[in-house]
Amino acid sequence: MTATLDAQARAILTGNDRGGYTVPTEGLYPYQWNWDSAFAAWGFSTFDVDRAWVELETLFKAQWSDGMVPHIVFWKVDPGYFPGPDVWQGGTDPASSGISQPPVVATLAREILAADPAAGVSRIAALYPKLVAWHRWWHEHRCASGVASVTHPWESGRDNCPDWDPGMRNVDGSGAGSYTRRDTGHVDASMRPKKEDYDRYLAMVAFGRNCGWDQAEIIKNGPFLMADPAMTFILIRAHRDLAAIGRELGQDVAEIEGWAAALVDGLPQIWNERLGCYDARDLRTGEFANILGSGAFLVWLLGAVDPAVEARLVAVWDRVKYGIPSADPAAETFDPRRYWRGPMWPFLNALIAMGMVKTGKTALAERLRKENAAVMRAHGFSEYYDPMDGTPCGGPNFTWTAAVWLTWAGRNAEGGS
Ligand code: GLC
Repeated sequence: MTATLDAQARAILTGNDRGGYTVPTEGLYPYQWNWDSAFAAWGFSTFDVDRAWVELETLFKAQWSDGMVPHIVFWKVDPGYFPGPDVWQGGTDPASSGISQPPVVATLAREILAADPAAGVSRIAALYPKLVAWHRWWHEHRCASGVASVTHPWESGRDNCPDWDPGMRNVDGSGAGSYTRRDTGHVDASMRPKKEDYDRYLAMVAFGRNCGWDQAEIIKNGPFLMADPAMTFILIRAHRDLAAIGRELGQDVAEIEGWAAALVDGLPQIWNERLGCYDARDLRTGEFANILGSGAFLVWLLGAVDPAVEARLVAVWDRVKYGIPSADPAAETFDPRRYWRGPMWPFLNALIAMGMVKTGKTALAERLRKENAAVMRAHGFSEYYDPMDGTPCGGPNFTWTAAVWLTWAGRNAEGGS
């Protein structure tokens, strides 16, 4: 059974390979997405290490001159996706979006390196300066408040999660005009963000486009700016991983260590006393989101977690049957099949488990792995799942779900498949 699923997962990765980059799923997402590619590379590393490095190398070919690595690279224009390059107008070649996505590459590159250190050393050495430039971009353009922020919910990679509700309320989407969404032509509309969300997403893209993606202007006057605990945890961990890579390569990593330390110092700003956890916060108004979701569970990426915080997180998890949900089922906004407002996303669960394992929480990590494996065994490799009954949702044959089956969920506690 596992062998068959392994073969299916590998077939999804190779089937979604468009020559140097992997699409998340055919139809719904026809381009290269930033953090999807990092997970795809991790998946490839279980059976084709060279192809894993190629995935990352292709992504970094789209790096902007200021260091930013875009969230979508439009290698081959596909009218089946909206908003495409004409809407973003990033002004780069290849065309790309004007925002970034969570920088998981350094963390996952270490895993890929471990799969075959001899094959990986020259590849990582070539990527290293590009990674440093991207991490510096995060430090300079997204971390001035002390913690990591996002200028668009899409930048967080957790598009319509309730974490962004306070910031979204203040975005004026009334000027969006008429447009045709393509996502709801591929997937049932009840599983996707709503029209009022899309109007606002497009208003944020228009602001960036109209100022020529001037980062200082976007941070100062853009319609949306929220501090994101998940991005902060991911970035701290990624800085530490990048520093570890740099040390191996004989580089001076003091600057990178300084970026990580500055973020750790900023953490009290996003501590929500009422919730007893780190929480997303609107940097324009100071308002907290007041909801726990999968972003908060990434706290294990930082290191040992306070037992009281762990208990609060596990209480949220205990409310569902399959994996860690994207939002707390006890909240009135919970919607178990609507994208990031409740569903369980295996790739994010894999990242959470990575933090748990590193801090010695092996029983929690094993529970999480088994719950994820159960939905994949029952329903295959979907984009996300209803955490209550395991119903597969979103796009089918999904790259990063197949990838984390190969690297994590489909492996037993001893590490074998
Ligand atoms: C959605 C997800 C985002 C992902 C993209 C492609 O926008 O929210 O995290 O990168 O789809 O899979």
